[in-house]
Amino acid sequence: MSVPTKKSGTAKSKWVQRYWAVPAALVALLLIVLLTKWLTGLPGVKDFLEQYPGHSELPSGAPVGFPAWLAWQHFLNGFFLLLIIRTGWQVRTTARPAAHWTRNNKGFIRTKNPPSKISLDLWFHLTLDVLWILNGVVFAILLFATGQWMRIVPTSWDVFPNALSAALQYASLNWPTENGWINYNALQLLTYFATVFIAAPLAFVTGLRMSSVWPKKAPTLNRLFPIEAARAVHFPVMIYFVAFIAVHVFLVLATGALRNLNHMYGGSDDENWVGFWIFAVSVAVMVGAWFLARPLFLRPIASLMGKVTR
Ligand code: HEM
Ligand code: HEM
Repeated sequence: MSVPTKKSGTAKSKWVQRYWAVPAALVALLLIVLLTKWLTGLPGVKDFLEQYPGHSELPSGAPVGFPAWLAWQHFLNGFFLLLIIRTGWQVRTTARPAAHWTRNNKGFIRTKNPPSKISLDLWFHLTLDVLWILNGVVFAILLFATGQWMRIVPTSWDVFPNALSAALQYASLNWPTENGWINYNALQLLTYFATVFIAAPLAFVTGLRMSSVWPKKAPTLNRLFPIEAARAVHFPVMIYFVAFIAVHVFLVLATGALRNLNHMYGGSDDENWVGFWIFAVSVAVMVGAWFLARPLFLRPIASLMGKVTR
């Protein structure tokens, strides 16, 4: 009898531990808001906020608005990432995969070593990665070819004090009111920059290091960049993406949803429902893909590229 009591006691204390985290976080948030409200009322801080309103000036000739290609790239990126995060999670947590896949060692890619056998989840992860990277490369080329890069790459050092200013404005609940159609605030700019130019390449390089295409017989390279380092970074990068997406989508919806959705999905700065409905269809497509991405449908596709075994 003593064992169940002990067990339920542990479960209860665990529950209490979790339960206390919620009000503690809320109190901490409230304190941060009150503290920054007080702080932003101080004369020195007021001057700082006036000098640094929260956004850097764009270089002259910066484009205004979002071209259709950018909207498509943005959608495809989200679509692939959703499934990449899911399959990454499956790779991490599935002890006994439903099926395995081995690459055909003939035709286009031929290697001396026999190809290794991987789970169907990892096959799907890697296939999506190729599509995601291709999408990213096209995005980067078009970004730099059209001048659109100026909106997500910092071009002046005042981006840092402006980011601090924007952070103070967010924390004091006086949210910055920049119009993303024309210019992002400095915090947005830095976050988009970090996502596109730091997090995505990090995911790629560390993923590549763990995959079987990475050269095994390169002792110096592999000593400088050990697989353990790649493994230690790859998962936290996923956490970064998940956190970024949660905050990003929350802010898009909380700071003038219709207008923001029109920016990225409707190609205009208006406040009608066009962007919302296109966004709704894009969500439906993602939900559909989520349900279709199961071994029953994946096996035939994987069979085209290799041998699927149970
Ligand atoms: C499906 C949910 C998403 C929605 C509704 C959404 C919405 C938006 C909107 C409305 C903008 C323009 C912001 C403005 O006008 O102020 C934007 C920009 C951006 N979003 Fe998203 N987004 C989503 C998912 C993602 C994901 C998954 C990523 C990448 C991990 C991402 C990365 C970006 C980037 C980098 C920009 C700046 C693009 C540029 O100006 O070149 N978004 N998003
Ligand atoms: C773009 C190139 C990418 C490549 C080449 C790649 C490759 C890989 C490989 C080979 C593994 C298996 C590691 C193992 O055998 O233990 C893996 C696992 C994983 N991937 Fe990726 N990946 C990429 C991008 C991403 C992205 C963008 C995310 C999430 C945002 C992600 C999330 C994960 C997760 C969560 C795991 C499981 C890691 C673990 O067990 O700790 N991957 N990836």
